Parts: sequence; C-alpha cells; structure tokens
Amino acid sequence: MTIARPTFAGSLRSDADSESGTTEFDDVGDVLDRFGRHGYLADERLATTVFLQTRLGKPILLEGPAGVGKTQLAKSLAEVTGRPLLRLQCYEGQDETTALYEWDYGKQLLYTQLLREKIGQIVADTPDLETAVARIAREESVFFSERFLAARPLLEAIRSPEPVVLLVDEVDRADEALEAVLLELLAEFQVSVPEIGTYHAVHRPYVVLTSNNTRDLSAALKRRCLHLSLDYPDAARELEIIRSKRTGLPDALAEQLVAIVRGLRGLDLRKAPSISETIDWARTLAVLGVEDLTAEALAATANVVVKYDRDLRRTLDALPRLVDPNATVPDSLPHSHGHGHGHGHGHGHDDGHDDDVPGPAARLAKDEPGRHDEGYYGTPGRLGSPRTVSSSQGQRSFPTRRRPV
Ligand SMILES: Nc1ncnc2c1ncn2[C@@H]1O[C@H](COP(=O)(O)OP(=O)(O)OP(=O)(O)O)[C@@H](O)[C@H]1O
Ligand SMILES: [Mg+2]
Repeated sequence: MTIARPTFAGSLRSDADSESGTTEFDDVGDVLDRFGRHGYLADERLATTVFLQTRLGKPILLEGPAGVGKTQLAKSLAEVTGRPLLRLQCYEGQDETTALYEWDYGKQLLYTQLLREKIGQIVADTPDLETAVARIAREESVFFSERFLAARPLLEAIRSPEPVVLLVDEVDRADEALEAVLLELLAEFQVSVPEIGTYHAVHRPYVVLTSNNTRDLSAALKRRCLHLSLDYPDAARELEIIRSKRTGLPDALAEQLVAIVRGLRGLDLRKAPSISETIDWARTLAVLGVEDLTAEALAATANVVVKYDRDLRRTLDALPRLVDPNATVPDSLPHSHGHGHGHGHGHGHDDGHDDDVPGPAARLAKDEPGRHDEGYYGTPGRLGSPRTVSSSQGQRSFPTRRRPV
C-alpha cells in the first residue's frame, strides 16, 4: 500500500509507557486473581501469557479445540481491564471491507444529491465535458475524507481514543488475504488508508486472536504473536470452573461428572465435549433434580454434550463403564444400536452398525472442528490467492467490492 499523505494520531505507546505510568497487572498472580474474580479461571501458563502481552505489547494467538475458553479469555480481559471489546468475527471469503474500513457509498451518494446545485455551479462555466470532469476531479478528495470513512473493527481499534481489547475471533476461518491485512496491523499497529494517510495507534490495543486449527496459520502471523495452545483443563480446574458457574449440581456429583466427561474425551468422538458442555450437562442434571449419577440418568441427557449420532452411540456404550468400571450394560439402558429412545439419536444410520459406516471418509472430510458447520463457513481448502490492495481511490466503496471468483 503506497502512502503519499501525512500520518495521523501521534506516537504509538502501550499502557506500560502511557502518561499514567501504571501497568495493567502487577504480576502473574494479579492476572490469576483478577480473572478469577471475573469468573475466568486461568492456569499459570495462560496467566503468564496474558501478563506478558500487557507488558510486551504483543498480540496473543490462542489455538485449541472448541469450547475451551478462547473467546471468553478476550471478553474477560476486556472486563478485567475495563477496556471496551472490539470484535472481528472471521469467516471464509471475508475481505478487508468488513475488517478494516470501507467508503460509505450511500452517504457519498446522498451528499452528491444534496449538493447537486453546488456541484452544478462548480462546472457551470466549463466549455466542455473534459474540463468539467477535470474540475470535479479536483474536488473529489472531499468525498474520500474521514467523513465518508466507515471504520470496521481493525481501524476502530487503531483509531480509538481509549485503549481497547481487539478480539480477532476464529482467524483460521478467514482467507490468507485477510491474514496479510492483519500482519501490517499486528506488526506496526497502524492502518493505511491511501486516500487519507496512515493511522497509528494512540494506545496499543490488547489483541487476542483465536483459532480452531481448521488450517495452518502463516509463520509470519505466528511470529508476531505470543502463541498458546489451550487444551481441556485438568480435572481440578474444570471442577473449579463448574463450581464457579453455580450450576446447582452438588459438589460430589460435579466431581463425578467431570471425571465422566474426561472419560468421554478419551473416546474417539467426532466432537469431544468441551468445558461449556460440561457446564451445560451440570445445569441440565441440576434442573432435573438428579441425585445420583447413574448411567441411565446420564444416558437420558447425553445429547446435551454429544452432538453427533455416532458420538451418542459411542457415549451410550461407554457410560456404564465410565460410571462404574465393573458394570455390565443393563437391559434398560438405551443401547447404541436402537432407534426411538427419545434421546434424539440415531435415525440417520442405515444398518445400525457402529457408525463409522456411511461414507466415513466423506463425512470426516466435511467435519471441521468448532461449533459451526461447513454450510456456514465453507470448506477450509478453498482459499483464495492473496490479494494486494491497490491504491486506487475509492476502492473500498460498497458497490465496487466484489470478491474475485
Ligand atoms: N477458564 C475458564 N473459566 C471459566 N469459564 C470458562 C473457562 N473456559 C471456558 N469457560 C466457559 O466455556 C464457555 C465457552 O468458552 P468459549 O466460547 O470461550 O470457547 P472457545 O474456545 O472460544 O470455543 P469456540 O472455538 O467454539 O469458539 C465460556 O462461555 C465459559 O463459560
Ligand atoms: Mg470462540
């Protein structure tokens, strides 16, 4: 991107060297404490990463399976630090008009309509069309000024007069072209608008990027970030999280439930239950007034935690063993191959055998981690070639932006 105009907004500074002279967190323990008070139970590793982010001014890149608290970390960071949260939710085919900025074409049009008379006066004495066009061209910078700039989250974060938390959520869903746009921002904390100039961050935002690993992110992006793989927590922390959510499930049962969920994660499931599903299951069992975590009670509610027919059948098979390692499967327990048990499972499979069956390769190929299916995000393999941003004026206005096919 070529910048010919002056730059804006003064010098870059993080809060560590802001005029207040105060830092956001005293130490790692302070991070743990304050996040804990806001209902986010971090471990030492995560708290250290957050602490370093605030001191080094580097973005955090969180990778890991669905439901382990990646997005929540950014939300909690905003709460804990009192900063507003700006969120860029990434998706396939997204371009910079939804990430950085675009020209507000509607507003531009409205103004030209309202100013018709004035524009008429400007060209009134021109002898021919060519001269009239040249005279209008002299004025066009008026329409490509800040007044007509529609800032999107990345530019908003840079221009914000107060420090913010910027969440770039599920960055792996976006194309590599958007990743390239992010690089400039993450490396320089600046955004260039060819028609206007370069905006530099007044306050360096705390940037949190999350990824569900549906594709590899570029080394350049990773290099600019503090990288952290989030996984399922250990049993003690998961129990603590369940407790902190006040699910209503008695402690002893919650402890048992956590152990069972951990057992389910050891099965070969398409989508292993995450922390949020453990929370949902605890709430469900509490609402139903379950007093004893029997295999039957868990089987009747297992659809809260497993979301595929195949997984449900495997779960139902495994539950008696997970509840009591010496158990034999009772007749009354809904069995993995049956139909119509009222648990919302298994009507799609055709032969009743342990799944794996109907076109497993095709199914698995379509199975992306995360809570969104491919109908929403498309397949990760179809990545567009990286596009460069030309400096032609008004390139980001609404009608001119079309994704190349
Ligand atoms: N460490 C934690 N402390 C407290 N709650 C947590 C923690 N981790 C996860 N949770 C709970 O799990 C829920 C799901 O977390 P979140 O939405 O952040 O997951 P995610 O990793 O972003 O998943 P996805 O990849 O599906 O977007 C949160 O709303 C929160 O209630
Ligand atoms: Mg998320």
